[in-house]
Amino acid sequence: MTRIFSGIKPTGHLTLGNYLGAVRRWVEVDQHAAEALFCVVDLHALTVEHDPARVRRLSRQAATLLLAAGLDPALCTVFVQSHVDEHARLSYLLECTAADGELRRMIQYKEKSARARASGESVRFSLLSYPVLMAADILAYRTDEVPVGDDQTQHVELTRDLAVRFNQRYGQTFTVPRATRPTVAARVMDLQDPASKMGKSHESGAGIVYLLDDPDVVRKKIMRSVTDSGREVVYDRETRPGVANLLEILAACENGNPSELADGYASYGALKKDTAEAVVETLRPLRERHAALVADPGQVDAVLTAGADRARRLARPVVDAAYRAMGLLPAG
Ligand code: TYM
Repeated sequence: MTRIFSGIKPTGHLTLGNYLGAVRRWVEVDQHAAEALFCVVDLHALTVEHDPARVRRLSRQAATLLLAAGLDPALCTVFVQSHVDEHARLSYLLECTAADGELRRMIQYKEKSARARASGESVRFSLLSYPVLMAADILAYRTDEVPVGDDQTQHVELTRDLAVRFNQRYGQTFTVPRATRPTVAARVMDLQDPASKMGKSHESGAGIVYLLDDPDVVRKKIMRSVTDSGREVVYDRETRPGVANLLEILAACENGNPSELADGYASYGALKKDTAEAVVETLRPLRERHAALVADPGQVDAVLTAGADRARRLARPVVDAAYRAMGLLPAG
């Protein structure tokens, strides 16, 4: 059976980008179609300046939101990365497989390290090795498919390279995975800056819809989104990025097609209004289930404990095999 693995990083509140680019497909398709594991990748949240209490809070919130979004522990495995030692164990072996140059070429590393330097922060070494840990997340489960948004494509490509290289050097150990992406909304853009991705950790939240925003806040953010000069509603990412972003968001919420939807609008205002309502309706059930789960934290804990047990059982033999293949002496 196809094995699927994907993860989400608790560096900020989850966004509409996370939902439309990844989580919604995990819920609607992946957990039904395959043996699927979904992980709150908390170790990845330590690669940038962080507040320990906040990371703890956001990790719990992310797990709660994944369940509220509809991941069903009867169908898939939901767990927290740091509960399963195999990720960190395998990461070191893959650090010994990766080359310094290929990590320095990663777009996210270049962007994030430049931003940190510009604001006078030091760049943690783990920011450079981050994609190696991500590769370990994926390879530890002999994953076939990795459902992600566009921004993670390069990291999955690196994972493939590391798997192939390891297998060639040390013998067949890992499955070579492939990224899968949604047909629309693979890259939801910031509503105030349609040239940038809608990301959790942007400074001002004005262009970001968070999954737990109140409906009126969602409406306000979408109604105030930056559109383009011109009046006609056409779907063109190059020349009309703001409008194209709204059309993609609307299409994703309504399972439609952005170009076809564009034909139905004579003004930006009407498009914004419908997009706002579609997003509010899409997020409504999630917000309601989230409120119920927050009132019963024991339920989330139980899911995470069982999830980590199962993940550990799957990853352990794969990582042990990698240790042996690389020449490490088996313990007793
Ligand atoms: P993260 O936490 O930034 O994002 C989680 C998922 O949401 C997608 N996504 C988006 N999709 C469309 N539009 C956007 N604006 C948008 N923003 C985020 C991401 O592509 C991702 O699928 N490195 C990963 C986490 C990770 C991981 C893994 C993923 C760690 N190990 C192993 C897959 C497999 C990350 O930072 O995702």
